[in-house]
Amino acid sequence: MGRTVYVNGEFVPEEAARISVFDRGFLFADGIYEVTAVLEGRLIDFPGHLRRMHRSLGELDMPAPVGDAALESLHRELVARNGLEEGLVYLQITRGAADRDFAWPAEPEPSLVMFTQARGLENSLAGREGIRVISVPDIRWGRRDIKTVQLLAPSMCKMMARRAGKDDAWMIEDGLVTEGTSNNAWIVTGDGALVTRDLSNAILHGITRAAVLAYAREAQMRVEERAFSLDEAKAAAEAFVTAASSFVTPVVEIDGIAIGSGKPGPVTRRLREIYLSESRRQAI
Ligand code: PDD
Repeated sequence: MGRTVYVNGEFVPEEAARISVFDRGFLFADGIYEVTAVLEGRLIDFPGHLRRMHRSLGELDMPAPVGDAALESLHRELVARNGLEEGLVYLQITRGAADRDFAWPAEPEPSLVMFTQARGLENSLAGREGIRVISVPDIRWGRRDIKTVQLLAPSMCKMMARRAGKDDAWMIEDGLVTEGTSNNAWIVTGDGALVTRDLSNAILHGITRAAVLAYAREAQMRVEERAFSLDEAKAAAEAFVTAASSFVTPVVEIDGIAIGSGKPGPVTRRLREIYLSESRRQAI
């Protein structure tokens, strides 16, 4: 594919990129990540992703390998070197290499890896026509607020959706929707309120979620941050998901039941437009 990737201080061809077999990211999933969207060669919601990166690192007592200004310029340089106009920048920080031991080293040397993925985001089929989801039990651990690279549970859930011929899965705990496999879940109630789960250790604190909440409030929309049940979602007027990789994407079916008209709804379409125009205005 000929990409240039960044590994611990160097920009190298992707075939030449190497990490130690003793890296704790490899052995223990002892690492965190961020995914930042790129539109027209510019970074979307970058300050939010930096903030959450620091929160994840702090919760895991892991040092940042480089400062924020350096991280921003590494992002820009990677985008420039790969000529990325539209797609994603993936950043991963692990605690680095150490002899295998559950206790982590007192003075770790963290690893920093970054790469790009060219992808059409703005005019994606999912964004235009919506996605179909199934519900699955949420089998993840208790600190979903930390964006770790421990992603086997959501991968398994995603594969269950694929095998069912659908696009994604919404994960359910105690009858309530936590989130999608790699996105936050939202519904629009019959009387027009936007509902998304309140922040806790049960979900990832989505950067796109936070931005959409702020834009919705600015637009005088009624917003409720609370858990909602699978039954409430199936009876909702509209449903959608938010993530850096998909912005605001309509959900048109849950467990074979059409949501609202079965087509992307007006509130979802409006929020996608607002999100795209506002985040593009603030892109760096
Ligand atoms: N995933 N919830 C989960 C479980 C996620 O993995 C993600 C993002 C989100 C949305 O967060 P944000 O709006 O900050 O992207 C919510 C990324 C895109 C991924 O794993 O590729």
